[in-house]
Amino acid sequence: MCGIVGYIGKRDAQSILVEGLKKLEYRGYDSAGIAMYTEDGLRVKKAKGRLAVLESQLDGAPLVGNVGIGHTRWATHGKPSDANSHPHTDMTHKFSVVHNGIIENYTELKEDLIASGVKFVSETDTEVISHLVAREYDGDIVKAVQKAIQHLRGAYALGVLTEYEPDRLVAVRNASPLIIGIGEGEHFIGSDIPAILEHTRNVFILNDGEMAVLTKDTVELMTIEGNFISREMIHVDWDAVTAEKAGYDHFMLKEIYEQPKAYRDTMLGRINTESLTVSLPELKLTKEKIAAIRKVHIVACGTAYHAGLVGKTVIETSARIPVEVEVASEYRYRSPLITPETLVIVVSQSGETADTLAALREAKKHGAHVLAITNVVGSSVAREADSVMLTLAGPEIAVASTKAYSSQLIAFFLLGVYLAETLSTQEQAWTKSIVAAMLSLPEQVESILENTDALRTYAESIAEHEHLFFIGRGVDYAVAQEGSLKLKEISYIHSEAYAAGELKHGTLALIEDGIPVIALATQNALLEKTVSNIKEVKARGGEIFGISDVNEVKALGKAVDEVFGIPATNALLTPALSVVPLQIISYYASLARGNDVDKPRNLAKSVTVE
Ligand code: F6R
Repeated sequence: MCGIVGYIGKRDAQSILVEGLKKLEYRGYDSAGIAMYTEDGLRVKKAKGRLAVLESQLDGAPLVGNVGIGHTRWATHGKPSDANSHPHTDMTHKFSVVHNGIIENYTELKEDLIASGVKFVSETDTEVISHLVAREYDGDIVKAVQKAIQHLRGAYALGVLTEYEPDRLVAVRNASPLIIGIGEGEHFIGSDIPAILEHTRNVFILNDGEMAVLTKDTVELMTIEGNFISREMIHVDWDAVTAEKAGYDHFMLKEIYEQPKAYRDTMLGRINTESLTVSLPELKLTKEKIAAIRKVHIVACGTAYHAGLVGKTVIETSARIPVEVEVASEYRYRSPLITPETLVIVVSQSGETADTLAALREAKKHGAHVLAITNVVGSSVAREADSVMLTLAGPEIAVASTKAYSSQLIAFFLLGVYLAETLSTQEQAWTKSIVAAMLSLPEQVESILENTDALRTYAESIAEHEHLFFIGRGVDYAVAQEGSLKLKEISYIHSEAYAAGELKHGTLALIEDGIPVIALATQNALLEKTVSNIKEVKARGGEIFGISDVNEVKALGKAVDEVFGIPATNALLTPALSVVPLQIISYYASLARGNDVDKPRNLAKSVTVE
């Protein structure tokens, strides 16, 4: 997983490439590089480390030219190092390649190339591509790329330049995202829209197996076999500021505060505020097809999987259809029992997660209807699914997902109500009461965010600890798992989430004096049970921070050391509120530990490799 960018036009390519890479750093940031056509020929500058390292090198010795490609890397094959950074070149340094993806058969290709006398300078899979393009070159870079990629197995978005044809930039897409930006007298390539948004709003989205040949004045789109294709140009509405921090210290904080808007936008047009009903015209499922659904599989990774855990309770409660939730990397390889009567819901913020995409394809192979819940229009998941429910959270830049997760919850609530309405599995009064409660969620989140001082103080206190536990029952347990992941990924504090009733079956042995425990107790019907579990922890010295709805704060307050109240809502909807204090706690704990909140170590925003 990496980010790629490219430019061909009349302006200074270096600054355009570097600015584009800044927008892509969330895709990987262990090294960066650019290749440009200069008056001395094709020149490459690359460096291990954050983009700032490359920038300081370029400050001293800039590359001057109007054509170039750039790359920000998240290491897969070969450790982060100068040599393993992209762009990669051939032995003559006349060809240069940036790549996002993985070449699965690179070992055998490398052996063949070595046998024919090629010398490799890196440990990457990508380097084989630059040598293959050079080997296949016979005066036409497009044909050389087409021939070279015939040898490749795997995922690749590519940008390719040759010194022999300085007026052409070739881009290829196969199972890794790539877009083409259309300017006046200039063209761009990018792994995603923010990379080029500053320069153009008009884009072509390449499909798998397609390529583009860019000059400053023209863009030709074709299949990798060379058949020309036409494509509708998409006009992107996002403004550049949307992708910036808007005055917040970090993207994560900004995105936490954007949740009320994300909720409103995701509900907009889907809820009739007068009849309190839900319509989802994007579901390409007739009433008969919905009635024929025998089971639902929810498949996703990480935080999106945690949204799926809430989705299970929502759908089982509202539609009375059995739901299984599974992480995509397991699902895809275990021959899951999928039939045409299975509704498979894949959840993916980016819509590019390799395992989720593979799970989607597996489900389609078995005739299931695949519904994607995703945040990115035109993403691979969105394009391949049968139906798409977009979460309208806007671009999420921080690696730790916040508003995308909570918008996925909103999507599940909408879907649950819609299924209940369609199947008449619940009284109208019930669905209407859920919808009415949903409409209050944005304001309720705002009220939580109005004063976060207590959460910040608590976060700073746990920052000194190395271990922490989360407990909860029902949907509180699902949210506890998300809270635990969030804390781990940005604060690096080890934490575990447990079903509150399960602690005594082993994990209670880890509770000792002073160990922090966050107890979610928003499910009024289960409050007494959860309080019993809290007391078991308290008796062993645990320091408990409770989260409950305002009506229960008093009852819980007696059992815990500190309590935070969230506004009261329908029991099924509490995750959309209770996750917010957990996000805030993680944020401030990370900050107190001096971590890079938006770019936690070892992680990347979009995981397009297995
Ligand atoms: C954690 C996080 C990840 C993603 C996961 C799936 O904060 O963001 O766990 O949820 O990598 O990504 P998407 O949703 O893009 O498929």
